[in-house]
Amino acid sequence: MKRREFLKTACLASACLLSACKSTIQHVQSTRQGNKLVAEKTLFNTKTTVAIAHEGYSIGIVKLDNNNFAASKLICSHRGCAVTPNENGFICPCHGARFDKLGQVTKGPAEENLVSYITSTDQQFVYIQLSE
Ligand code: FES
Repeated sequence: MKRREFLKTACLASACLLSACKSTIQHVQSTRQGNKLVAEKTLFNTKTTVAIAHEGYSIGIVKLDNNNFAASKLICSHRGCAVTPNENGFICPCHGARFDKLGQVTKGPAEENLVSYITSTDQQFVYIQLSE
């Protein structure tokens, strides 16, 4: 294999690997109603975590079924790194902690769950109750 062909093949393989590692997170806009963040229900599906920016961090919302959603602050409870979604929940890139879709610790070194938020829904919207 010539050098040029090798480089082309290596680049294509790298691009494939990168696309496979692509995060399954979708950043969406929300509106604020009092002490709640509100997002359109149609933005959610069961395969993608939706992230809403809120005061310098993100809240990840997972659709469990049509009327049940789990919302977690995407900040690791170990030392504060931003966690990212994976197929089973969330993973922290800093020291490898893992959390399920409800934000509960499944692997250390984190010992505490992600901060969670109460959610509710109606026909059209998902509401995330802010604690502050
Ligand atoms: Fe997340 Fe350490 S900061 S595991």
